[in-house]
Amino acid sequence: MTAVVPLGLEEFRLIRELILKYCGVVLTDDQRGYVERRLRERLAFLSLSDYRAYYRYLRFDPAGPQEIEDAAESITTHETYFFREEYQLRAFRDEILSSLYESRAGARRLALWSAGCSTGEEPYTLAMLLLEAGIPRGWDVRIFGSDLSRRVIAHARRGTYGASSFRACPERYRSLYFRPTADGQHELSREVRALCHFGQLNLVDAARVALIGKLDVIFCRNVLIYLEPTARRAVVDQFYRRLSPGGVLLLGHSESLLSMTTAFEPVVLSSDLVYRRSAHQSESLPPLSPSDDSKRPVDADPARGTR
Ligand SMILES: C[S@@+](CC[C@H](N)C(=O)[O-])C[C@H]1O[C@@H](n2cnc3c(N)ncnc32)[C@H](O)[C@@H]1O
Repeated sequence: MTAVVPLGLEEFRLIRELILKYCGVVLTDDQRGYVERRLRERLAFLSLSDYRAYYRYLRFDPAGPQEIEDAAESITTHETYFFREEYQLRAFRDEILSSLYESRAGARRLALWSAGCSTGEEPYTLAMLLLEAGIPRGWDVRIFGSDLSRRVIAHARRGTYGASSFRACPERYRSLYFRPTADGQHELSREVRALCHFGQLNLVDAARVALIGKLDVIFCRNVLIYLEPTARRAVVDQFYRRLSPGGVLLLGHSESLLSMTTAFEPVVLSSDLVYRRSAHQSESLPPLSPSDDSKRPVDADPARGTR
Protein backbone atom coordinates (compact mmCIF):
# COMPACT_ATOMS: atom_id res chain seq x y z
CA MET A 1 0.00 0.00 0.00
CA THR A 2 1.23 3.55 -0.81
CA ALA A 3 2.29 5.63 2.25
CA VAL A 4 -0.20 8.47 2.69
CA VAL A 5 0.85 12.02 3.57
CA PRO A 6 -1.13 13.19 6.68
CA LEU A 7 -4.20 15.38 6.14
CA GLY A 8 -3.01 19.00 6.38
CA LEU A 9 -5.09 21.90 7.67
CA GLU A 10 -5.71 23.38 4.23
CA GLU A 11 -6.76 20.07 2.64
CA PHE A 12 -9.02 19.41 5.62
CA ARG A 13 -10.66 22.82 5.14
CA LEU A 14 -11.21 22.16 1.42
CA ILE A 15 -12.58 18.66 1.88
CA ARG A 16 -14.90 19.63 4.70
CA GLU A 17 -16.32 22.46 2.60
CA LEU A 18 -17.15 19.96 -0.12
CA ILE A 19 -18.83 17.64 2.37
CA LEU A 20 -20.79 20.52 3.90
CA LYS A 21 -22.02 21.62 0.50
CA TYR A 22 -22.91 18.09 -0.53
CA CYS A 23 -24.88 16.94 2.50
CA GLY A 24 -24.91 19.67 5.18
CA VAL A 25 -22.78 17.60 7.56
CA VAL A 26 -20.48 19.82 9.57
CA LEU A 27 -16.98 18.70 10.54
CA THR A 28 -15.31 20.46 13.44
CA ASP A 29 -11.62 21.38 13.74
CA ASP A 30 -10.98 18.57 16.19
CA GLN A 31 -12.27 15.97 13.71
CA ARG A 32 -9.26 16.28 11.40
CA GLY A 33 -7.64 13.07 12.70
CA TYR A 34 -10.95 11.22 12.45
CA VAL A 35 -11.50 12.39 8.86
CA GLU A 36 -7.94 11.43 7.94
CA ARG A 37 -8.45 7.90 9.28
CA ARG A 38 -11.87 7.52 7.64
CA LEU A 39 -10.70 8.71 4.23
CA ARG A 40 -7.41 6.79 4.21
CA GLU A 41 -9.09 3.73 2.73
CA ARG A 42 -10.62 5.86 -0.03
CA LEU A 43 -7.16 7.15 -0.96
CA ALA A 44 -5.78 3.61 -0.90
CA PHE A 45 -8.65 2.44 -3.09
CA LEU A 46 -7.89 5.19 -5.63
CA SER A 47 -4.09 4.69 -5.32
CA LEU A 48 -3.63 8.30 -4.21
CA SER A 49 -0.90 9.19 -1.76
CA ASP A 50 -2.02 12.60 -0.49
CA TYR A 51 -5.21 14.45 0.41
CA ARG A 52 -4.54 17.35 -1.98
CA ALA A 53 -4.71 14.86 -4.87
CA TYR A 54 -7.85 13.39 -3.30
CA TYR A 55 -9.42 16.87 -3.13
CA ARG A 56 -8.57 17.44 -6.79
CA TYR A 57 -10.13 14.09 -7.64
CA LEU A 58 -13.30 15.08 -5.78
CA ARG A 59 -13.48 18.43 -7.55
CA PHE A 60 -12.35 17.71 -11.07
CA ASP A 61 -12.42 14.01 -11.92
CA PRO A 62 -15.51 12.85 -13.87
CA ALA A 63 -15.96 10.29 -11.06
CA GLY A 64 -15.77 13.06 -8.41
CA PRO A 65 -19.53 13.28 -7.73
CA GLN A 66 -19.67 9.54 -7.05
CA GLU A 67 -16.58 9.79 -4.86
CA ILE A 68 -18.18 12.55 -2.74
CA GLU A 69 -20.95 10.09 -1.95
CA ASP A 70 -18.36 7.54 -0.85
CA ALA A 71 -16.42 10.12 1.18
CA ALA A 72 -19.60 11.28 2.95
CA GLU A 73 -20.54 7.69 3.62
CA SER A 74 -17.13 7.02 5.19
CA ILE A 75 -17.26 10.13 7.36
CA THR A 76 -20.86 10.05 8.64
CA THR A 77 -22.02 8.04 11.64
CA HIS A 78 -24.43 5.22 10.86
CA GLU A 79 -24.94 4.00 14.41
CA THR A 80 -28.45 2.60 14.92
CA TYR A 81 -30.29 -0.34 16.49
CA PHE A 82 -33.79 -1.73 16.96
CA PHE A 83 -35.96 0.00 19.58
CA ARG A 84 -33.55 2.88 20.02
CA GLU A 85 -35.02 5.46 22.44
CA GLU A 86 -37.85 3.10 23.24
CA TYR A 87 -39.71 5.61 25.46
CA GLN A 88 -40.38 7.67 22.34
CA LEU A 89 -41.51 4.70 20.31
CA ARG A 90 -43.96 3.74 23.05
CA ALA A 91 -45.30 7.31 23.07
CA PHE A 92 -45.70 7.07 19.29
CA ARG A 93 -47.58 3.77 19.49
CA ASP A 94 -49.76 4.60 22.49
CA GLU A 95 -50.47 8.30 22.04
CA ILE A 96 -50.07 9.21 18.38
CA LEU A 97 -51.03 6.21 16.33
CA SER A 98 -54.64 5.86 17.49
CA SER A 99 -55.40 9.54 16.90
CA LEU A 100 -53.90 9.30 13.41
CA TYR A 101 -56.07 6.27 12.62
CA GLU A 102 -59.05 8.40 13.69
CA SER A 103 -58.13 11.51 11.75
CA ARG A 104 -57.16 9.56 8.61
CA ALA A 105 -60.20 7.27 8.67
CA GLY A 106 -61.58 8.86 5.48
CA ALA A 107 -58.53 8.10 3.33
CA ARG A 108 -57.57 4.89 5.21
CA ARG A 109 -53.98 5.63 4.44
CA LEU A 110 -51.00 6.24 6.69
CA ALA A 111 -47.54 7.16 5.42
CA LEU A 112 -44.50 7.24 7.71
CA TRP A 113 -40.98 8.35 6.84
CA SER A 114 -37.80 7.44 8.67
CA ALA A 115 -35.43 10.11 7.33
CA GLY A 116 -31.78 9.16 7.81
CA CYS A 117 -32.68 5.55 8.64
CA SER A 118 -29.17 4.13 8.24
CA THR A 119 -29.33 0.30 7.97
CA GLY A 120 -33.09 0.19 8.55
CA GLU A 121 -33.52 -0.74 12.20
CA GLU A 122 -35.67 2.37 12.84
CA PRO A 123 -38.27 1.87 10.08
CA TYR A 124 -38.43 -1.86 10.80
CA THR A 125 -38.98 -1.10 14.51
CA LEU A 126 -41.88 1.13 13.48
CA ALA A 127 -43.25 -1.69 11.33
CA MET A 128 -43.11 -4.11 14.28
CA LEU A 129 -44.93 -1.60 16.49
CA LEU A 130 -47.60 -1.03 13.86
CA LEU A 131 -48.14 -4.76 13.47
CA GLU A 132 -48.28 -5.21 17.23
CA ALA A 133 -50.86 -2.43 17.56
CA GLY A 134 -52.83 -4.00 14.71
CA ILE A 135 -53.33 -2.43 11.29
CA PRO A 136 -57.06 -1.92 10.68
CA ARG A 137 -58.44 -3.99 7.82
CA GLY A 138 -58.43 -2.23 4.45
CA TRP A 139 -55.80 0.37 5.41
CA ASP A 140 -52.81 1.22 3.26
CA VAL A 141 -49.94 1.69 5.71
CA ARG A 142 -46.43 2.34 4.42
CA ILE A 143 -43.09 3.20 5.91
CA PHE A 144 -40.43 4.80 3.79
CA GLY A 145 -36.81 4.64 4.97
CA SER A 146 -34.21 6.87 3.33
CA ASP A 147 -30.56 7.66 3.82
CA LEU A 148 -27.71 9.48 2.15
CA SER A 149 -25.66 6.32 1.94
CA ARG A 150 -26.41 3.68 -0.69
CA ARG A 151 -24.50 1.07 1.29
CA VAL A 152 -26.74 1.34 4.36
CA ILE A 153 -29.86 1.36 2.17
CA ALA A 154 -28.68 -1.87 0.50
CA HIS A 155 -28.25 -3.36 3.97
CA ALA A 156 -31.75 -2.21 4.98
CA ARG A 157 -33.21 -3.88 1.91
CA ARG A 158 -31.45 -7.15 2.78
CA GLY A 159 -33.15 -7.12 6.20
CA THR A 160 -30.56 -9.30 7.95
CA TYR A 161 -28.95 -8.20 11.20
CA GLY A 162 -26.22 -9.19 13.66
CA ALA A 163 -26.21 -9.11 17.46
CA SER A 164 -25.37 -5.41 17.92
CA SER A 165 -28.62 -4.37 16.23
CA PHE A 166 -30.56 -6.14 19.01
CA ARG A 167 -28.90 -4.47 22.01
CA ALA A 168 -32.16 -2.73 23.01
CA CYS A 169 -34.67 -5.04 21.32
CA PRO A 170 -37.07 -6.80 23.70
CA GLU A 171 -36.73 -10.57 23.19
CA ARG A 172 -40.37 -11.05 22.20
CA TYR A 173 -39.92 -9.01 19.04
CA ARG A 174 -36.85 -10.97 18.03
CA SER A 175 -38.67 -14.27 18.41
CA LEU A 176 -41.85 -13.00 16.75
CA TYR A 177 -40.42 -11.21 13.73
CA PHE A 178 -36.99 -12.72 13.00
CA ARG A 179 -35.63 -16.03 11.85
CA PRO A 180 -32.06 -17.10 12.70
CA THR A 181 -29.83 -17.69 9.68
CA ALA A 182 -27.08 -20.29 9.26
CA ASP A 183 -24.34 -17.68 9.81
CA GLY A 184 -25.64 -16.50 13.20
CA GLN A 185 -27.57 -13.48 11.93
CA HIS A 186 -31.29 -12.76 12.09
CA GLU A 187 -33.51 -12.26 9.09
CA LEU A 188 -36.69 -10.19 9.25
CA SER A 189 -40.06 -11.75 8.53
CA ARG A 190 -41.84 -11.02 5.31
CA GLU A 191 -44.76 -9.24 7.02
CA VAL A 192 -42.42 -6.63 8.57
CA ARG A 193 -40.47 -6.16 5.36
CA ALA A 194 -43.64 -5.77 3.33
CA LEU A 195 -44.49 -2.55 5.17
CA CYS A 196 -41.12 -0.91 4.48
CA HIS A 197 -39.70 0.64 1.33
CA PHE A 198 -36.26 2.16 0.98
CA GLY A 199 -34.50 4.74 -1.14
CA GLN A 200 -31.27 6.71 -1.23
CA LEU A 201 -32.00 10.38 -0.57
CA ASN A 202 -29.92 13.36 0.43
CA LEU A 203 -32.03 15.47 2.79
CA VAL A 204 -30.44 18.72 1.65
CA ASP A 205 -31.47 18.01 -1.94
CA ALA A 206 -34.72 19.98 -1.68
CA ALA A 207 -35.79 19.22 -5.25
CA ARG A 208 -35.75 15.47 -4.64
CA VAL A 209 -37.28 15.69 -1.17
CA ALA A 210 -40.12 17.71 -2.71
CA LEU A 211 -41.00 14.68 -4.86
CA ILE A 212 -41.93 12.58 -1.84
CA GLY A 213 -45.67 12.16 -1.33
CA LYS A 214 -47.47 13.61 1.70
CA LEU A 215 -46.66 12.06 5.05
CA ASP A 216 -48.44 11.63 8.36
CA VAL A 217 -45.38 10.94 10.50
CA ILE A 218 -41.72 11.79 10.05
CA PHE A 219 -39.06 10.27 12.28
CA CYS A 220 -35.73 12.04 11.90
CA ARG A 221 -33.68 10.98 14.86
CA ASN A 222 -29.98 11.54 15.41
CA VAL A 223 -29.46 13.14 12.01
CA LEU A 224 -30.01 16.88 12.51
CA ILE A 225 -27.29 17.01 15.18
CA TYR A 226 -24.73 16.37 12.45
CA LEU A 227 -25.98 19.15 10.19
CA GLU A 228 -24.85 22.74 10.00
CA PRO A 229 -27.59 25.16 11.25
CA THR A 230 -28.62 26.49 7.81
CA ALA A 231 -28.91 22.99 6.36
CA ARG A 232 -30.78 21.87 9.47
CA ARG A 233 -33.31 24.66 9.08
CA ALA A 234 -33.78 23.91 5.38
CA VAL A 235 -34.36 20.22 6.12
CA VAL A 236 -36.92 21.02 8.84
CA ASP A 237 -38.65 23.37 6.41
CA GLN A 238 -38.91 20.50 3.91
CA PHE A 239 -40.32 18.24 6.63
CA TYR A 240 -43.01 20.83 7.29
CA ARG A 241 -43.95 20.90 3.61
CA ARG A 242 -44.05 17.12 3.34
CA LEU A 243 -46.29 16.65 6.39
CA SER A 244 -50.05 16.60 5.91
CA PRO A 245 -51.96 18.91 8.27
CA GLY A 246 -52.05 17.21 11.68
CA GLY A 247 -48.94 15.15 10.83
CA VAL A 248 -46.13 14.84 13.38
CA LEU A 249 -42.36 15.11 13.42
CA LEU A 250 -40.31 13.15 15.96
CA LEU A 251 -36.66 14.04 16.58
CA GLY A 252 -33.90 12.35 18.58
CA HIS A 253 -33.66 12.97 22.34
CA SER A 254 -30.84 15.52 21.97
CA GLU A 255 -32.50 17.41 19.12
CA SER A 256 -35.18 20.11 19.18
CA LEU A 257 -36.71 22.82 17.02
CA LEU A 258 -36.04 25.43 19.67
CA SER A 259 -34.84 28.67 18.07
CA MET A 260 -35.19 27.12 14.61
CA THR A 261 -38.86 27.49 13.67
CA THR A 262 -42.21 28.19 15.26
CA ALA A 263 -44.14 26.64 12.38
CA PHE A 264 -44.89 23.46 14.32
CA GLU A 265 -47.05 23.06 17.42
CA PRO A 266 -45.12 21.32 20.20
CA VAL A 267 -47.21 18.46 21.60
CA VAL A 268 -46.32 17.20 25.07
CA LEU A 269 -46.86 13.47 25.45
CA SER A 270 -46.43 11.46 28.66
CA SER A 271 -42.77 10.71 27.92
CA ASP A 272 -41.85 12.86 24.94
CA LEU A 273 -42.26 16.11 23.09
CA VAL A 274 -43.20 15.89 19.42
CA TYR A 275 -43.92 18.51 16.76
CA ARG A 276 -47.19 18.72 14.87
CA ARG A 277 -48.14 20.54 11.73
CA SER A 278 -51.40 22.21 12.68
CA ALA A 279 -54.51 20.44 11.41
CA HIS A 280 -56.08 23.81 10.60
CA GLN A 281 -53.35 25.50 8.61
CA SER A 282 -54.15 25.92 4.97
CA GLU A 283 -51.78 24.45 2.42
CA SER A 284 -50.04 27.67 1.48
CA LEU A 285 -47.40 26.01 -0.65
CA PRO A 286 -47.88 25.29 -4.34
CA PRO A 287 -49.18 21.80 -5.14
CA LEU A 288 -46.70 19.14 -6.25
CA SER A 289 -46.20 18.97 -9.96
CA PRO A 290 -47.62 15.86 -11.67
CA SER A 291 -45.32 12.87 -11.25
CA ASP A 292 -42.46 12.70 -13.69
CA ASP A 293 -40.52 9.46 -13.40
CA SER A 294 -37.43 10.85 -15.09
CA LYS A 295 -37.06 13.33 -12.21
CA ARG A 296 -38.34 11.08 -9.44
CA PRO A 297 -35.75 9.82 -6.96
CA VAL A 298 -36.12 6.21 -8.08
CA ASP A 299 -37.94 4.79 -5.07
CA ALA A 300 -38.33 7.67 -2.69
CA ASP A 301 -42.10 7.86 -2.62
CA PRO A 302 -43.98 5.85 -0.01
CA ALA A 303 -47.14 6.38 -1.99
CA ARG A 304 -45.68 4.37 -4.87
CA GLY A 305 -44.42 1.48 -2.88
CA THR A 306 -41.39 0.59 -4.94
CA ARG A 307 -38.55 -1.24 -3.28
C1 LIG B 1 -26.69 8.15 13.47
S1 LIG B 1 -27.59 7.59 12.08
C2 LIG B 1 -29.24 7.63 12.73
C3 LIG B 1 -30.04 6.42 12.33
C4 LIG B 1 -31.44 6.36 12.96
N1 LIG B 1 -32.24 7.50 12.57
C5 LIG B 1 -31.35 6.24 14.45
O1 LIG B 1 -31.65 7.21 15.16
O2 LIG B 1 -31.00 5.17 14.94
C6 LIG B 1 -27.52 9.04 11.05
C7 LIG B 1 -27.81 8.75 9.58
O3 LIG B 1 -28.08 10.00 8.94
C8 LIG B 1 -27.59 9.91 7.62
N2 LIG B 1 -27.42 11.26 7.08
C9 LIG B 1 -26.52 12.22 7.43
N3 LIG B 1 -26.65 13.30 6.65
C10 LIG B 1 -27.66 13.03 5.77
C11 LIG B 1 -28.26 13.75 4.70
N4 LIG B 1 -27.84 14.96 4.34
N5 LIG B 1 -29.25 13.15 4.03
C12 LIG B 1 -29.68 11.92 4.35
N6 LIG B 1 -29.16 11.18 5.36
C13 LIG B 1 -28.15 11.73 6.06
C14 LIG B 1 -26.28 9.15 7.76
O4 LIG B 1 -25.91 8.55 6.53
C15 LIG B 1 -26.61 8.15 8.86
O5 LIG B 1 -26.93 6.88 8.35
